[in-house]
Amino acid sequence: MKLVTALDIGTSKVIALVGEIDNYGELHVIGLGEAPSKGIDRGYVTRLDLAVNSVVSAIKEAQEMAGVKLATVVLGISGTTLKSQNEKDAISISSQPVEIDYSHVERLVDRAVMRSREEGYEILSAIPRKFILDEQEGVIDPIGLLGSKISAEVHVVKVGTSLLKNTEKVVINAGMEIIGKFLSPLASAEAVLTQEEKEEGVLMVDMGAGLTDFVVYSEGSILFTGCVPMGGMNITKDIAHFMKINSEQAERIKIESGHALADVVSEAERIKIKPRGEEREVTVSRKQLAEVIQIRIEEIMERLADILSQQSIDLNTLHAGIVITGGSSKLAGMREFMERYFDLPVRIGYPIGIIGLKEKVQDPAYATAVGLIKLAYKNLNIGKKSVVQKSTDKRAENTSSLSIILAKLKYFFKDIM
Ligand SMILES: Nc1ncnc2c1ncn2[C@@H]1O[C@H](COP(=O)(O)OP(=O)(O)OP(=O)(O)O)[C@@H](O)[C@H]1O
Ligand SMILES: [Mg+2]
Repeated sequence: MKLVTALDIGTSKVIALVGEIDNYGELHVIGLGEAPSKGIDRGYVTRLDLAVNSVVSAIKEAQEMAGVKLATVVLGISGTTLKSQNEKDAISISSQPVEIDYSHVERLVDRAVMRSREEGYEILSAIPRKFILDEQEGVIDPIGLLGSKISAEVHVVKVGTSLLKNTEKVVINAGMEIIGKFLSPLASAEAVLTQEEKEEGVLMVDMGAGLTDFVVYSEGSILFTGCVPMGGMNITKDIAHFMKINSEQAERIKIESGHALADVVSEAERIKIKPRGEEREVTVSRKQLAEVIQIRIEEIMERLADILSQQSIDLNTLHAGIVITGGSSKLAGMREFMERYFDLPVRIGYPIGIIGLKEKVQDPAYATAVGLIKLAYKNLNIGKKSVVQKSTDKRAENTSSLSIILAKLKYFFKDIM
């Protein structure tokens, strides 16, 4: 077994989580560091020195708790520049059916990566799904089967090059080596979704402070990844603006008295605030507070629904419904709001399979960090004998994204865990 440190650089906080996964797939957390995010806004670095300090603080705290020197991290990447697409492709192998091996799948992935290249973007992951072997559809894993033609859809995710490079620079300047990069929403999904939900079809929404990332799974694999560049921070700003209070107070009343559904809050409930320029506290209706919150959440979900409908994704086909995670999923009434808005079953996604610091880490705000450790174990071959050699494919290397290779290995490793 080997320790892995996950680094989640969010809009509100930086988390460094140190842990190892046992043979039963349980995560033993032995270190946790958390620092307020400074110099970072929705994945972008806005001030290098402050961002580096935030990472250094989180790592230092985690290191002290774990009692070991930390040198490497697995990094979560997210941001407003996130783009995903599904590339369909087919390759003819031979006139007579032959055994499909890794290299055939690798070729499909490589071709999708080549076609998805775009100036100003880096490809972060390429995951094959929906295999068709000759005429047979619905092949889950073609390796070892016989066929003369194989086709697949490859889910490719890209992020803006400068966003990625600047985030990497922050981590390197903080003295850490990056051993893996994964998309933050994929990490969150890894932490909170069950395999059954992925098979049945599910929408996972990670609503943080600045971003609402989401992933759609259908038939066991990723169908779409997207991001709405708004989150809990926008709700706090609205409250501050509307109630003429500072953002610290707005954040506090949102957490203590906020609600996502105005019509379930009684008219009679009052809360105390101290507006700017007022000598004393005044009371306002809690319903009014909920109205301000609800409007913003509606806007975020409307944008999310628009993105899905542009992709022709029909939510009614997602039989497992919606799983919400991220800090903002803890807002009172959030689950009910989502249920009503999308007319689907909704649950809150708590990271699963955790031993050690469970009370603290089993929190939706830690989903990304927990998932990063899980993804690292699945993809980076940590603590296992090497099963597949790393690809030496020059084209893949040229994309400067280790994760492409890793994403391919994810496919290879998926049943080895
Ligand atoms: N109990 C609560 N009720 C309402 N909102 C909450 C609650 N607890 C946390 N939040 C909100 O959750 C947000 C932080 O969530 P999270 O830690 O997932 O974000 P992040 O990862 O830092 O940011 P992002 O992923 O958007 O870059 C903040 O906006 C905070 O106000
Ligand atoms: Mg986050």
